[in-house]
Amino acid sequence: MERIGVFPGSFDPVHNGHLDLVSRAAPLFDRLYVAVLNNEAKAALFTVDERLGMLRELFRDTPGVEVESFSGLLVDFAAKVGAQAMVRGLRGVADFDYELQMTLMNRHLRPQVETLFLMPRGDLVHLSSRLIKEVCSLDGDVSGLVPELVGEQLRSRLRKR
Ligand code: PNS
Repeated sequence: MERIGVFPGSFDPVHNGHLDLVSRAAPLFDRLYVAVLNNEAKAALFTVDERLGMLRELFRDTPGVEVESFSGLLVDFAAKVGAQAMVRGLRGVADFDYELQMTLMNRHLRPQVETLFLMPRGDLVHLSSRLIKEVCSLDGDVSGLVPELVGEQLRSRLRKR
């Protein structure tokens, strides 16, 4: 049986912590979907298509990693692609309550799909898309925190504001 995983998120934008988690999760599955939530109710810096474009470029040469968007319930997307598990990153205790709630709700909705947690590399635990956008908007240096192509898009988007 093919092992299929889903790594969901907003990815607004993707940063090096996400990339580290994908590099840890991908070898655990035959196919890993990086799944971008399409949520029109939530204001985002980048459109879903822009986020998909950046992710597809970054994982162009990564076998077994596919990039898709989803709307609606995550467990429904997981069922649609035949995933046995969803992967989330845990950076520290601050993430824990939210992740526990989400995991238990997803388990309630679809007990067949397991949620796995992975910790990022220690020097990446302080990264979040929200803080990276804030730093960049205040002209801080985000190199080393995001891939170069994301840094370029961040600077050009935030400079226009
Ligand atoms: O990167 P994020 O913003 O922490 O990712 C959150 C995400 C996309 C995983 C979460 O909001 C989600 O799964 N949304 C889909 C809607 C859903 O399934 N809600 C019920 C689960 S508790």
